Amino acid sequence: MPRATFILSDGDRRTIDIPAGWSLMEGARQEGIPGIVAECGGGALCSTCHVHVAPEWHETTGPASDLEEALLGLAPGADEHSRLSCQIEMTEAYDGLTVTVPETQATG
Ligand code: FES
Repeated sequence: MPRATFILSDGDRRTIDIPAGWSLMEGARQEGIPGIVAECGGGALCSTCHVHVAPEWHETTGPASDLEEALLGLAPGADEHSRLSCQIEMTEAYDGLTVTVPETQATG
């Protein structure tokens, strides 16, 4: 099962197992990772699952889609490494994925 590490806004690190086929967001919510709000439940409608992908993982995860880009425009602090965690589907290739959770998410 792939593992992913979340670097929290207080600098704490949490590493969790996420079943292949789940989104990164689903794994985070299941394990109660703070800062992953996921208001829309994974529908790519809210941007409150925003994470910064570690630069060394950016090539593996690929860039945000056009839809994500539009939503990330609403996410505080979004940058070129930003993705919506609900749009990253975990596979074994992502074992070891590291992301940083932003200090704040967009508010509705
Ligand atoms: Fe709403 Fe990802 S959970 S955009």
